[in-house]
Amino acid sequence: MRDIDAKRHVRRTHISARATMEPAERHAAARSLRDTLLVVPELEMAGTVAAYASVGTEPETRGLLFALWKRGTYVLLPRLLPDGDLDWASYEGPDSLAPGARGTWEPTEPPRGPAAIASADVVLAPAVAVDRSGTRLGRGGGSYDRALARVGPAILTIAVVYDDELVDSLPAEPHDERVRAVATPTGGLLRLP
Ligand SMILES: Nc1ncnc2c1ncn2[C@@H]1O[C@H](COP(=O)(O)OP(=O)(O)OP(=O)(O)O)[C@@H](O)[C@H]1O
Ligand SMILES: [Mg+2]
Repeated sequence: MRDIDAKRHVRRTHISARATMEPAERHAAARSLRDTLLVVPELEMAGTVAAYASVGTEPETRGLLFALWKRGTYVLLPRLLPDGDLDWASYEGPDSLAPGARGTWEPTEPPRGPAAIASADVVLAPAVAVDRSGTRLGRGGGSYDRALARVGPAILTIAVVYDDELVDSLPAEPHDERVRAVATPTGGLLRLP
């Protein structure tokens, strides 16, 4: 199977599995991920964190965004551009989000441009699955492959997934950007080689 077809298949499998999770299980996972991430040293030290507002059945990030903002971290959130690239604007509390493209919630503050992700000290990325070498499978737009390519080599990039979504191996294409760590509800933060 070609990598692109394999990716499509794996993506569908994981997204279907998410739909079968009970709301209580999702909430517990989100709380656990929030608590894990809030004590990661790089996140505690970070002046700026590029994060995202979760959509649909993704692990919920609202609690994490709020906690980061409350403790004084500058939080950048993506806005999906028509070409699939990501622009970035600051999160200024729950009221600074509005419905955006394709079911997303976007920051209402002025956009700072796609390059603004380079100012982040830590980047949190959504994923449908991640493997132990850091290969990340997203929703298939390639947005995070473009965004992560602008992040410096020393910056901690973390994919946030449910337990079953950390897998041994995923298909990858040459443009796929790896992440440097993965956070799961039960496993906590795993730094990848
Ligand atoms: N650097 C890039 N510049 C332009 N287009 C790109 C780039 N990277 C990926 N793409 C486009 O995005 C498509 C989907 O990529 P891919 O399957 O890797 O998405 P994904 O990583 O699962 O999604 P996402 O990163 O948005 O969560 C690719 O087939 C390609 O057309
Ligand atoms: Mg990709």
